[in-house]
Amino acid sequence: MTKKIILSGSTVTGNLTLGNYIGAINNWTKLQEEYECLYMVADLHALTVRQEPKELQARILSFYAQYIACGLDPKKNTLFVQSHVPAHAELQWILTTLTPIGYLNRMTQFKEKSEKTNEILAGLYMYPVLMAADILLYQANLVPVGEDQRQHLELSRDIVTFFHNRYGDTFTMPTAYIPKMGAKIMSLQDPTKKMSKSDENDKSFISIIDPPKSIEKKIKSSVTDSETVVSYDPEKKAGLANLLTIYSVLTGKNIDSIVASYQGKMYGHVKVDLAEIVVETFKPVQEKYHDLMKNQDHLLKLMKEGADKANAKANQTLTNVYKKIGLVNL
Ligand code: TYM
Repeated sequence: MTKKIILSGSTVTGNLTLGNYIGAINNWTKLQEEYECLYMVADLHALTVRQEPKELQARILSFYAQYIACGLDPKKNTLFVQSHVPAHAELQWILTTLTPIGYLNRMTQFKEKSEKTNEILAGLYMYPVLMAADILLYQANLVPVGEDQRQHLELSRDIVTFFHNRYGDTFTMPTAYIPKMGAKIMSLQDPTKKMSKSDENDKSFISIIDPPKSIEKKIKSSVTDSETVVSYDPEKKAGLANLLTIYSVLTGKNIDSIVASYQGKMYGHVKVDLAEIVVETFKPVQEKYHDLMKNQDHLLKLMKEGADKANAKANQTLTNVYKKIGLVNL
């Protein structure tokens, strides 16, 4: 039986966070045994905000190494960098010609991001269409993402329908694969906001490659409430609920049993233990990451192998798309 196809990725801004790890990468590693998986370092998406070229280049390599360090095996999966596959930008253009701007106007991420800047770029507006191209090129069945990407996935599905209505069946209809727990890890400084790698306050997130001391400090200084009894209440005790969610996902223990084990204890006890859990989770990841970063030629070789595999698949779809819409293939 042929395996179902998975595609996902992360945009190369800032550093991968605990939110990215829990909401996405940790699940990617679990899926790699059962599915044909393609995981992408989304560098073209990063260009929707201003980037320092040297820093961007370094970060692309770093993200690629972090994917592998988190447990993604380059032999089992296709691990590639988006800009190494020109078909992404090419298919995006075709898809923009089918996407009504009313649909793009509804994208909440676009609204939020454009409110924070007075230079609203067309690339930011088209960002979800590039995501659709990423997914459709590989005929992905499932797209493992966190909650914040749900709307973009819905748009990808709409775009498939627009294309099929005009040109006939061409793409696999993708489905979002969102974890039940941990799909939205919150900021450590403002538990009403999502933990984001582009947050200006670096205490609000934990990076996968943060040194242990810094992880401990960030968790211990995370914002909770002024009560003392440990209980899980995402509305009234959002900060603590967020910590308990992280605790539960990383240990595999259910929230009730965690809460029960802290009866008669203070929030501080939860924080101390959680800091240790996060440090221990990332310890092997960080060791592997630093090892990988010592040999950049090896990383580039793996990137090239990933790009070759991805290009072969993507070009098949693109050739078919060009034929369907009436372009001349040579
Ligand atoms: P990005 O880089 O913002 O996030 C990568 C993945 O991490 C998830 N995530 C979270 N999950 C739980 N809690 C959080 N606080 C949290 N923050 C982020 C995201 O939902 C995502 O799954 N546009 C995408 C990257 C992308 C992509 C794609 C994804 C480009 N093309 C095609 C899927 C398919 C992005 O910026 O994700």
